[in-house]
Amino acid sequence: MALSSTHNKAGNTQEGVPAALFRRVCGAFATGVGVATVIGRDGKPHGLTVNSFTSVSLHPPLILICIGHRAATHGPFSTAASFAVNFLDETQQPLSERFASSHPARFEGLRWSCGATGAPVLEDALAVLECETWRRMDAGDHTVFFGLVKEARVRDGRPLLYFGGSYRRLAQD
Ligand SMILES: Cc1cc2nc3c(=O)[nH]c(=O)nc-3n(C[C@H](O)[C@H](O)[C@H](O)COP(=O)(O)O)c2cc1C
Repeated sequence: MALSSTHNKAGNTQEGVPAALFRRVCGAFATGVGVATVIGRDGKPHGLTVNSFTSVSLHPPLILICIGHRAATHGPFSTAASFAVNFLDETQQPLSERFASSHPARFEGLRWSCGATGAPVLEDALAVLECETWRRMDAGDHTVFFGLVKEARVRDGRPLLYFGGSYRRLAQD
């Protein structure tokens, strides 16, 4: 069922559009899927699945991710001087699910190492951006983490996609 702008206007709350409509509209924006990773003060790797990645600036090379205040990984990201965003390929949906769930040991069995910035890099990722934490900005119930890109790598492959609340893949061409 299409949600029209009439519904939108009629359903407005004081805060803006109804949450369900807002979620549904945002879900209409197809994205890739990444695992954002960081070393915590405990010296251990932490990570979560993200699709809030955006490239921001070329000069200097800046990106951002948004992490919810209630995420357990929010703490480690808030104190770390560097982090990485590891883009997943179409075979890596299980990795996305692992890093979005209550899996007790998200890095267990994975090939990962600390990159040049010290942030954890997933060896089998489709692409990786390693960043120095450039700015942090609270925005509603999330914090926006801006990263200054220090290292980048990419291999051939097809990305894992997310659209309408479901994982998707590119059609074969
Ligand atoms: C495809 C996908 C994209 C997601 N993107 C984000 C995101 O950008 N920011 C965020 O805070 N949570 C995002 N999540 C939710 C987190 O991955 C999930 O809540 C995770 O369990 C948080 O782990 P933590 O509580 O250990 O930090 C996403 C989940 C999925 C499945």
